Amino acid sequence: MRIAVTGSIATDHLMTFPGRFGDQLIADQLDRVSLSFLVDDLQVRRGGCAANIAFGMGSLGLRPVLVGAVGTDFADYRSWLERHGVDCDSVHTSEVHHTARFLCTTDDDHNQIASFYTGAMAEARLIELGPIAERLGGLDLVLVSPNDPDAMLRHTDEARDRGIPFAADPSQQLARMPGEDIRKLVDGAAYLFGNDYERGLIEQKTGWSGEEILERVGVRVTTLGPKGVVIDRRGEPSLHVSPAPENGKADPTGVGDAFRAGFLAGLAWELPLERCGQLGNLTATHVLERVGGQEYELGQRAFVERFAAAYGTEAAEEAGRFVRCHHA
Ligand SMILES: Nc1ncnc2c1ncn2[C@@H]1O[C@H](COP(=O)(O)OP(=O)(O)OP(=O)(O)O)[C@@H](O)[C@H]1O
Ligand SMILES: [Mg+2]
Repeated sequence: MRIAVTGSIATDHLMTFPGRFGDQLIADQLDRVSLSFLVDDLQVRRGGCAANIAFGMGSLGLRPVLVGAVGTDFADYRSWLERHGVDCDSVHTSEVHHTARFLCTTDDDHNQIASFYTGAMAEARLIELGPIAERLGGLDLVLVSPNDPDAMLRHTDEARDRGIPFAADPSQQLARMPGEDIRKLVDGAAYLFGNDYERGLIEQKTGWSGEEILERVGVRVTTLGPKGVVIDRRGEPSLHVSPAPENGKADPTGVGDAFRAGFLAGLAWELPLERCGQLGNLTATHVLERVGGQEYELGQRAFVERFAAAYGTEAAEEAGRFVRCHHA
C-alpha cells in the first residue's frame, strides 16, 4: 500500500533563558521594546507533522512518501529522513524561503516568547499529487495533516477528484480554519484523526453531529491521551484500545504524530483496526519517553516484546510478521 504523507516539515529551535522576561520589560517603555536575551541552551529538534509521521512509518519498516515544502537548508534533514526509510523525492524545495521554523525561548517561570516562521511551507499549495501518483504507479492513501491551509484544501480536493482515498488530520489547523473549510477536509475521508478536544472542535465548527460525521467518513479515530484511543465506524460498536504502558514521561510533543505513524503502518499491512490502534499507541509511547518527535529508535526485538507485554503474544506475533524496525 502506497501512502503519501502530506503536511508540515519544520525544525524547532528551543532556547532557555536563565531569568525572567518580566524583569526585562519596562512597563512605560513597551512602545520601544528592543531586547536581547542571552540564552544558555539551544536545542534543535526535527519536526513538522508530516515529517514526524513519515519518520515513524519509516522506522517501522515502511517507505512512506513525504509530501511538503522546504527550503534550500533542508539537506541535512532530508538525509536523516532518508536514512530512516522516508521517500523524500516528492518534497518541494523553495528557491527563496527557508524551511518552516519554530523559535521559542522559555524563561525560568516557564513563560514563553515564540515565533513560527512559515517560510517555504506556503509553497506546499503549489504541489500537485498527480505527478507523485504517476511516479509511484498510483497512490492508495493520502494523509492530509496540518500544513499551509490552502495546501490542505488542495490535496483533499485532488485526492477526491482522482478517487484516491484520503485521511483527514486537521488537528492544529482546526483553530484557524473556518467551518466551511473544515467540512471540505472531512467530508468523504476514509479516516478522520483527532484527539478528544479536536473531536469536539470538529463537531462545533462543521455543525455536524458525531453521527453525521460518521456518515461522511469511513472510520473516526480519536486519541485520548493516557486513555488510549477509540475507533468508531457507522453501525458498529466503538472499539477502545488501551494505551501501551509507558516507562516514564519526558515530553508529549509529537505523540499524536507517532500514533498516526503506527496506525497507518497497520493499515498499510492490512491489519485489523484493533491492531492498527495498538501499533499507534505503542509508537506514541516511544515519543512520550523522549524529548522531541523524532528522537526515538525502534529496535525489532524490543518493539515486538513490548507489543506482547501490552497486548498479548498473539497480537504481537501478528504485528511482528510485518514490523521491520531499523535496528535489531
Ligand atoms: N500517558 C500516556 N501513556 C501512554 N500512552 C499515551 C500517553 N499519553 C498519550 N499516549 C498515546 O499517544 C496517543 C496520542 O495522544 P494524544 O491524544 O494526547 O495526542 P495529541 O493531543 O494529538 O498530542 P500532540 O498533538 O501533542 O502530539 C494516545 O492515543 C496514546 O496512544
Ligand atoms: Mg495532536
